[in-house]
Amino acid sequence: MTRHGRNLERLADPDLLARAAASRVATLLTEAATLRGRCSIVLAGGSTPRALYRALAAAPRGTVPWTLTSVFFGDERCVPPEHPESNYRSAHDALLAHVPVLSERVHRIRGELDAPAAAEDYERVLRSEYGGLPVPAFDVVLLGIGTDGHTASLFPGARLDEGEARWVVAADAPPSSPVKARVTLTPVALCGGTTVIVLAAGREKRGVVSAVFARGVAGDTLPAARIRGRGETVWMVDADAAPVGGAAG
Ligand code: 6PG
Repeated sequence: MTRHGRNLERLADPDLLARAAASRVATLLTEAATLRGRCSIVLAGGSTPRALYRALAAAPRGTVPWTLTSVFFGDERCVPPEHPESNYRSAHDALLAHVPVLSERVHRIRGELDAPAAAEDYERVLRSEYGGLPVPAFDVVLLGIGTDGHTASLFPGARLDEGEARWVVAADAPPSSPVKARVTLTPVALCGGTTVIVLAAGREKRGVVSAVFARGVAGDTLPAARIRGRGETVWMVDADAAPVGGAAG
């Protein structure tokens, strides 16, 4: 189902969701690498993508052109890379440690720094990779969504437009979050992706996914709803997170 420039793909369960997303990512990266000799992906934090990362790690050698792939991160908590709350550690343990990606092409957000310093540092990293372009031309951007509609570390109420000129900013997560100090790519940077894939699984996400698809263009107030790829934006959800009936219009 396509609505307001977003495709909604419903998979029966989290395992099928992970496998379908892994297949999609592998195809997109292979196409990009075949075309340009290199490719890039922005990894998402949180728990939902971990099953996808494990599925990518388990794929047969050659399924993904890892030696040609540059890896970036959509956001990071301001903790050291070995910290249990680190998005880098989560992706490393589930995926990066198990595939032949070149270490010099894994661009970690330096969460060990304070948020403004880490944001400045990552802005420099992205500018050095994509500086001549109006936006970073990622091939694939992976995102999750919180029950409040946040994505990466773009939380409701944050002034998202102030990052227009910036590709990376410091952010504050709500007090209830395990780590408040964050670094996040801005909407401008995340929308630089050719394909944006938003992953949602579990009954607790049905409300926010329904809100995104029910409200349509007018409902782009939710940060996750504002991120659209330059090519395709696809929301891949399991049955529990999928809008019910007409909720998705
Ligand atoms: C983070 C993520 C965040 C995440 C959502 C959903 O650093 O936490 O970038 O945006 O995608 O909070 O998290 P779950 O997948 O754990 O529900």
